[in-house]
Amino acid sequence: MTDSAKAEESHDHNLRHILAYEDLRDWIAEADRLGELRHVTGASWEQDIGLACTVVKYDENAPVLLFDDIPGVEPGFRVIANFFGGTRKNMTLGFETGLSKVELSDAWADVYSHEQGALIPPVYVEDGPVFENIQMGDEVDIEKFPSPVWHEGDGGRYIGTGSYNVTADPDDGWFNLGCYRIMLKDSKTVAFNTGLGKHGRVHFEKNATKGEKTPVVMVVGGDPMTFIMGGYEVPSGVSEYDVVGGLRGKPVELVRGKVTGLPFPANAEIVLEGYVDPEVEVPEGPFGDWCGSYTESGRMRPKCEVVAVYHRNDPIILGFPPQSLPDEYSRFRSITRSALLRRAVEASGVPDVKGVWCHEVGGSHMLTGISITQRYPGHSTQAAQIAAQCQSGAYAGKWVIVTDDDVDVADLEELIWAALMRCDPVNDIDFIKYGWTSFADPRIDPEQRAEGNITNSRMIIGACKPFHWKEAFNKSTKPSEELLSMAREKFGYLLD
Ligand SMILES: Cc1cc2nc3c(=O)[nH]c(=O)nc-3n(C[C@H](O)[C@H](O)[C@H](O)COP(=O)(O)O)c2cc1C
Repeated sequence: MTDSAKAEESHDHNLRHILAYEDLRDWIAEADRLGELRHVTGASWEQDIGLACTVVKYDENAPVLLFDDIPGVEPGFRVIANFFGGTRKNMTLGFETGLSKVELSDAWADVYSHEQGALIPPVYVEDGPVFENIQMGDEVDIEKFPSPVWHEGDGGRYIGTGSYNVTADPDDGWFNLGCYRIMLKDSKTVAFNTGLGKHGRVHFEKNATKGEKTPVVMVVGGDPMTFIMGGYEVPSGVSEYDVVGGLRGKPVELVRGKVTGLPFPANAEIVLEGYVDPEVEVPEGPFGDWCGSYTESGRMRPKCEVVAVYHRNDPIILGFPPQSLPDEYSRFRSITRSALLRRAVEASGVPDVKGVWCHEVGGSHMLTGISITQRYPGHSTQAAQIAAQCQSGAYAGKWVIVTDDDVDVADLEELIWAALMRCDPVNDIDFIKYGWTSFADPRIDPEQRAEGNITNSRMIIGACKPFHWKEAFNKSTKPSEELLSMAREKFGYLLD
């Protein structure tokens, strides 16, 4: 079959993809229509909003929470949290609500693309709801918003968790969107928390070498899809606005900041505009991060002065605080990373990959399961090493378990069972040293951290039946699909 015929066939199999919302308010209406919206009144930003998030994190079908009447802030100023759950997660990514997490991951990998033909550039408009309220210079007061203290051990309030920062490359002007959490320091100051190598950081470093401040706009309440793209590893030089346009099938409408000229969606809820100072740092954190542990205290990050604030009437902060694992953040990352990692492994030439899952309990990075139909000696080693080190799999990885095609790698217990039964530790575990990792990894030694050596080691667990005697390996008692459906047909009533 030719490539285009294959593409045609795969296109025919695609599920219908449509984003049923343009801004956060449309999204809320959709979640309400699905019966998954809960209003919470009177919760404090100091503690209650974080407590409520702690409760819903234990149930992936828990509703999205819209906090209103927050004590001490202007009536109508709101916070929304736990958006990625229930059946609304499918709606958020643009699919029908009945898909399983693996089907949703696969459907997402079908539509997500940063390739040239899939991009639709934004259009610029003069005005939009985000300019309903404007504060400039001395009028700026970012403490008026109900930014929560999300976790009991946090070092302060975080206005940005479900947010993204927009910066321009000083060399060629392309706009990057990056989700980097935003800690409030005072009524006009926040911290700029970009990790090493992140695009916002690169833009900052390029300006800093010339002794210049970095202009930035921070969108702290906007439509979920643009936020999702802000948290995605879109390649350098490609603007996430173009990717969102492609996913929507129409251009994103942008306005320009009145001070920096940087662009942001005309329908955003709250936007802070300012400058990051290369000379001055402020303490950032501790913060309950995605590994399920707090970042160290004493961490210093560049200071960002806010010079303008724009917001809609009755503005809404989009909250997305990580919790102990598994949580909303890890469920979201597992769905949006797993099928893409599978495709990356396949694209490198590994044949007969049956499944890939980046597990929730590892924050979608630290535990990856991959299953293959073994074709030749060394096939399993090749698949696992590539999953551990290809671009989509390398960052913050830790364990990769490779197993056979009869194992459902998205099922954590089944994956661990395979590792226990098909791996002989001394013979079947390999290690890789000095991998690319995250500051958030709590196991980085303090001395190593102080030296800036942000690397870790990886464990590759070979949990395939040994190739040369796989036919003689004791057969699994796991029933086949046929046997299971026969059993269900005959005796399913026992569970009614
Ligand atoms: C909710 C959330 C919070 C995040 N916080 C940070 C952060 O504070 N700093 C950071 O460097 N990356 C953070 N990330 C990861 C980056 O958003 C991600 O690596 C993204 O690709 C960065 O954009 P860039 O590739 O354009 O730099 C976060 C991601 C999400 C989804």
